[in-house]
Amino acid sequence: MIEWLGADRVVVDGRPFDVINVKSAKDAPGATAIRKTRWMVERYIELADALEPRRVVELGIDRGGSTVFLAVLMRQLERLLAVDIGAVPDGLAEFVASGDWAERVHCHGGVDQAERSPLLSLVDATFGDEPLDLVVDDASHLLAPTRASFDALFPRLAPGGVFIVEDWSWDHQVGRVIADRMRSGDIPPPADPAAGLNRDMPLSRLLLECVLVSGYAPEVISDVRIRRGWAEIVRGPAELAGQDFAVADHMGWLSGRVLEQAFEEA
Ligand SMILES: C[S@@+](CC[C@H](N)C(=O)[O-])C[C@H]1O[C@@H](n2cnc3c(N)ncnc32)[C@H](O)[C@@H]1O
Repeated sequence: MIEWLGADRVVVDGRPFDVINVKSAKDAPGATAIRKTRWMVERYIELADALEPRRVVELGIDRGGSTVFLAVLMRQLERLLAVDIGAVPDGLAEFVASGDWAERVHCHGGVDQAERSPLLSLVDATFGDEPLDLVVDDASHLLAPTRASFDALFPRLAPGGVFIVEDWSWDHQVGRVIADRMRSGDIPPPADPAAGLNRDMPLSRLLLECVLVSGYAPEVISDVRIRRGWAEIVRGPAELAGQDFAVADHMGWLSGRVLEQAFEEA
């Protein structure tokens, strides 16, 4: 069912996908380009086997290749809700209209992950009271919008369900590229060393909070698996107040002090 043709082309159920981490000439219209590295795609293949997800939410569609990939990969899929702040691309709309996918794959454009209530209304309309097995966040990669959708959707996972945050280290990677280029003399050091950098708190803050919650309240977050810029946050068995859930409320006062001190010293 799954065959790799070279390093960056994978065929799932007879459907070819180009695995491209950044936009490139190969990133042609049509829902065939997956904006991920090969090991991320391999990890989804492992998770599809291990978790057998039936109800899935994807935040961040881009060309639609990842949405089609998840749909054809997950054999037990009952429903996949995919949203993006931009429009649903034609290639993805054509895929959904083919075969019997329209029943299982629901795509919505114009949805901002930062807006909790519209997002939850869509989730309610798509899944009713049924819990989610998997949420994939590959959207803004910014702290505030990512936190908003994490706080909204994490309580909707079933115990053992997985919330994936892709590319949480994006800000750090950009910082590294700039630092390397300055060191090599490629670009001059700016008068203000922080000029041009994103001065907002990076997304990594949310991941640090999740790690601290997993230590303080494992009934809320039972596991955090991090590999490079990828994170899998596993929901524990606790009852969680859906409307008002905020992960930061579950890390305990000492964790708050650790984080504040770390950021004051940075
Ligand atoms: C990295 S691309 C997604 C790639 C796709 N998941 C894949 O693997 O092929 C990020 C997408 O997130 C969307 N996005 C950015 N900010 C968003 C927000 N606040 N809410 C929802 N979607 C957002 C962008 O429009 C873009 O299509």
